[in-house]
Amino acid sequence: MRAWMLPAGSDGFDKLYQEDLPTPEPGPGEVLIRLRAWSINYRDFAVAAGQYFGGALKAPAIPLSDGAGEVAAIGPGVTAVKEGDRVQGSFFTDWVEGPPRMGPALGDGMSPGMLAEYVVLPERAVVPMAQTLDFAQAACLPCAGVTAWNALYEGPRALVPGMKVLVLGTGGVSMLALQLARAGGCEVIATSSSDEKLERVRALGASHTLNYKTTADWGAHVAGQFGGVDKVVEVGGAGTAEQSMASLRTLGEVAFIGVLSPEGGPNPRSLMMTGGSLRGIFVGSVAMAKKLNAAIDTNRIEPLIGARFGFDQAKDAYAHAWGPESFAKTVIELD
Ligand SMILES: NC(=O)c1ccc[n+]([C@@H]2O[C@H](COP(=O)([O-])OP(=O)(O)OC[C@H]3O[C@@H](n4cnc5c(N)ncnc54)[C@H](OP(=O)(O)O)[C@@H]3O)[C@@H](O)[C@H]2O)c1
Repeated sequence: MRAWMLPAGSDGFDKLYQEDLPTPEPGPGEVLIRLRAWSINYRDFAVAAGQYFGGALKAPAIPLSDGAGEVAAIGPGVTAVKEGDRVQGSFFTDWVEGPPRMGPALGDGMSPGMLAEYVVLPERAVVPMAQTLDFAQAACLPCAGVTAWNALYEGPRALVPGMKVLVLGTGGVSMLALQLARAGGCEVIATSSSDEKLERVRALGASHTLNYKTTADWGAHVAGQFGGVDKVVEVGGAGTAEQSMASLRTLGEVAFIGVLSPEGGPNPRSLMMTGGSLRGIFVGSVAMAKKLNAAIDTNRIEPLIGARFGFDQAKDAYAHAWGPESFAKTVIELD
């Protein structure tokens, strides 16, 4: 099979190289998936740069957590899926349901990576695709989609219709959150560094938009001009968290997700005024992925794909996803 690899000690996605590897075989309780489409997440840059949890890669590894395809074969004892089923992987292979259970994560350098023509996963980490999606759309969901679902609809302050949500930037997590929040009957406010991208999010249903470069105090602006929000999809991190907390209305929640803006020492004092809270999010479980897929089918949500590349153009796909033109999800498809 063709596979993209990162070398031991990789310090950037320019180190990606393609290799022919033996097609893996499923053992007991395992599933062989023939992958058809993949998507890139911000964390994949960290893995390639040797900055993900665990540091630099100790050995050559296949990258990427997100892929979708068909079951090509099943090992002894597998009952949940059969040959030909359309499936995606679960980001965490051991977090099936219940409270957070960190552990092996696809494409982290130690667990299987998805950017190959085939992958073997444990049966528990194989999720049936949403029936209304094609492979490219389903490949957008394992990391960004499940994260957005967890942020909005899990935990003690799950969204209900009529609530207000703030999404930061126009990346994969934020645009899926916008689509899911709108489907759930909620109002969405969106920020971006680009006025052109803000036009696109208004067309997608955002009621208010703010350029976070030109409106530097966007958090206070959201609270003062728009009455505050019930939920923030906080992908910025330490550099944006203080403003996100300041944008909350009474009993709102900041779903703390990202590291895009790592510099800063946020002061959470505004939470005292709103009774607001901060909840840490790390993708989600297989059970959350299944709920997300059900919501996608019921509401006919189509994940937004900003750009598509062929398998041999994987490096170009990484470069695009990293660059300023990136919008929503960047997908790689089998040629
Ligand atoms: N904890 C978790 O489980 C989890 C899961 C998924 C992702 N994440 C994290 O969440 C973040 C987003 O991931 P992603 O895959 O959605 O990334 P992505 O698709 O690469 O999104 C990048 C976009 O984020 C926006 N952005 C960059 N800096 C920003 C800032 N200072 N304030 C507001 N927006 C900013 C930009 O939007 P504009 O171009 O519109 O300005 C940029 O296009 C990353 O830090 C990632 O590591 C965490």
